Order: sequence, then C-alpha cells, then structure tokens
Amino acid sequence: MKILMVCLGNICRSPLAEGILQTKIGKHQLDWFVDSAGTGAYHVGESPDPRSQSIARKHGIDISHQRARQLKPADLETFDFIFAMDQRNYDNIMKLAKTDEQERKVHLILAFTGAEKHSVPDPYWDDKGFEHVYELLDNACERLVEMVGEKVG
Ligand code: 4NP
Repeated sequence: MKILMVCLGNICRSPLAEGILQTKIGKHQLDWFVDSAGTGAYHVGESPDPRSQSIARKHGIDISHQRARQLKPADLETFDFIFAMDQRNYDNIMKLAKTDEQERKVHLILAFTGAEKHSVPDPYWDDKGFEHVYELLDNACERLVEMVGEKVG
C-alpha cells in the first residue's frame, strides 16, 4: 500500500501527516510506504516548517529528515491513495489525473473522519494553528489505519 499526503507547500501540513501515519503504521506493523508532496514548487528541497517539526517532536515524532518536493503526474500512477489536505489541493491533484482509476485514488483526508469541515486549515500564517492541525491529522490517520488496514492488512 502506497499513500501520498499532499498540501500546497509540503512544509506544514503534509509532512506532519506523513510523520503521523508513518508512526502509526510502524506501531501496527503494516508494510505501507508513505510519502508527501506539495502542489506548489515554492519550498522544494526545504525541511518542514520549524513549527511543524516542533509540534511533531512534542508528540514524539521526528520529521526533520523530510524534504519538500512537488507533486508530479507519475505520483498518480505510483500511489494507491492520495490524500489532499484541503479542497484547493484536491482540485489541483485532480487536474493531473488522466484516468478514472487515477481520479478514484484522490480523497480529502478529513472526508472519513466525521469532521464537519473537510479541509485541514492552512497554518502557515497562523502560529497557533499547528496544534489543531496536528489533532485533525492524528485523528484522520488513525481512521485511515483502521479503514485501509481492514481491507488490505
Ligand atoms: P502547507 O503550508 O501547504 O501546509 O505546506 C503552506 C506553506 C507555504 C505556503 C503556503 C502554505 N506559501 O504560501 O509559501
């Protein structure tokens, strides 16, 4: 199972989602590959935002080794599931989809959580938003492990 987390810059939300899911699949001994990417190229090659690193570290997760990269058309072929952090990311990923099968891989990450709003708010301009983003993603990744794990083991 190959899962890709996608946001805009690949420095705030999707690196956290990658780190959280990686930690959970380690605990559940699932043989999954997790990666993340951004729809934009603004931060390619950069480490995750220090505020994302800090909130991850607070929860025992090290994401410092990650480096931002841009989403590419081949990702829609390579990955089994692609999770968008918000509607804008979702729309931009869908623009790259060439087949119905590729379109079916793309989901909003909060769509399965029962959350009223289906977008993870962009915390880039909001220092206080990171804890909330962490909680949303932790909950979503827990649901993903339960749901996808049930189907594929
Ligand atoms: P991310 O956050 O999409 O969660 O990585 C952002 C990072 C950078 C920018 C916007 C959002 N930016 O405008 O540079």
